[in-house]
Amino acid sequence: MEKFVEITAAGLQDTFAAADRILKEMQGCGRKYYVESYGCQMNEHDAEKIAGMLQACGYSKAETKNDANLILYNTCCIREHAEKRVFGNIGALKKRKEEDPGLIICVCGCMMQQKAVADRLFKRFPFVDIVFGTHELHRFPILLEKALSGERVISVRESDGEVVEDLPVIRNGSFSTFVTITYGCNNFCSYCIVPYVRGRERSRSPENIVNEVRELVRQGYKEITLLGQNVNSYRYDDVDFPELLRQVNEVEGDFRIRFMTSHPKDLSPRLIDAMATLDKVCNHIHLPVQSGSNAILSAMNRKYTREKYFALVDAIREKVDGVELTSDFIVGFPGETEEDFEDTLDLARRVGFSAAYVFMYSPRAGTKAAKMENQIPEEVKKERLLRLNACNAEQLQAANAGKYVGTNGTVLVEGCDTRGPSSMAYGKLTNFKMVYFPGGPELIGKLCRVNITDTQNNSLIGELAD
Ligand code: SAH
Ligand code: SF4
Ligand code: F3S
Repeated sequence: MEKFVEITAAGLQDTFAAADRILKEMQGCGRKYYVESYGCQMNEHDAEKIAGMLQACGYSKAETKNDANLILYNTCCIREHAEKRVFGNIGALKKRKEEDPGLIICVCGCMMQQKAVADRLFKRFPFVDIVFGTHELHRFPILLEKALSGERVISVRESDGEVVEDLPVIRNGSFSTFVTITYGCNNFCSYCIVPYVRGRERSRSPENIVNEVRELVRQGYKEITLLGQNVNSYRYDDVDFPELLRQVNEVEGDFRIRFMTSHPKDLSPRLIDAMATLDKVCNHIHLPVQSGSNAILSAMNRKYTREKYFALVDAIREKVDGVELTSDFIVGFPGETEEDFEDTLDLARRVGFSAAYVFMYSPRAGTKAAKMENQIPEEVKKERLLRLNACNAEQLQAANAGKYVGTNGTVLVEGCDTRGPSSMAYGKLTNFKMVYFPGGPELIGKLCRVNITDTQNNSLIGELAD
């Protein structure tokens, strides 16, 4: 596999120097930022790096958009819906900028990595100060310095295939967090924009990943999610994903390891063994199937069949104790017939996912599928979405009721719902099932042993074990 250029602190001198100059200039000004991120965890993690850079520039986090001197939208373009929301939100800032000309407005992320879209947005919204693509993230303070001196800046470039290390990060969570292991994607599923806006797949070195995990565990994090568009194609020299998991598992401390997303075509027996044997690796796998029809899977360029998928599910369930699978589906892909869709329903029923995210196919300019004939009408997409959701909900409720009551497990408490008559703590089992149980906010961030007593919709109900 090709090695990519690694940019470390030494290569980020211009970034840090710009941040230092802004910091000096701003001292005592009490400048605040507001960052809104759309899309996947990858984007959310980028937003944490943006926050890190802004703090290095002397900004602190604003409680609301109205308190902010800098507003940044980190965009997503996976589906049209995501794009429309951003255009609407930016349009709404026009008045704010008129009232407060010192306000800095920035737009970045995947949508802005599409040059034509970035140019259009830059022209249409003259009050936007900075527009930059995904490959410019680590240069943000340099762009910000220009904007602060009154320049409008647009910067979108092709990736040179870099891996950037050592950026400061302000993490949103205090007990569960992300560590990116690969950037970009080489799969070119025919419907997907990600390979175009995130560049070629490049893996971080295992040393950097393990060091980051070790530091996070030292800081008290209880759950680390290893992130990549296709984590199981991770490779750095002779370290592949199962080996990386083994190395991360050796980090000392009481924490859980999750990873996403896995691509069925790269799911090896060694990965299944790693999941089965490594004690910190959770018994959950998000394994997007997209469709249950071989004709559609082939047109999607997914490189597996429904039979291969069933075989993987069987192998995972055979080896990994108490494992749960979750998945993504696309309905209404070009040319999807009623029979194709019924194959998808059949697959969903047979597998029994513990959660499934169903999306209506959304044509993305520049992808192969967008040019295909036989695009499916919106009403048909909607109808299939509803049918697949109903099918998933039905089998899930039956499965929940049968499988869980009377069992126990460990929940990492994420939050606490105090609206009802009694305070309910909630969080997930290692297999990603959500559990609610009586408990207060003091449990947030703790690993709690819980007995499962009942089920409710997609969740489980429990009580603290002694
Ligand atoms: N790399 C991951 C996630 C990609 S994006 C993977 O391969 O699974 C998350 C989900 O969005 C995908 O799994 C897919 O179900 C959905 N998606 C991607 N492109 C889409 C499109 N053009 N229209 C509708 N859904 C899409
Ligand atoms: Fe998109 Fe496919 Fe890559 Fe996932 S694996 S990001 S769906 S191209
Ligand atoms: Fe969206 Fe980019 Fe993620 S397109 S789903 S934010 S990689």
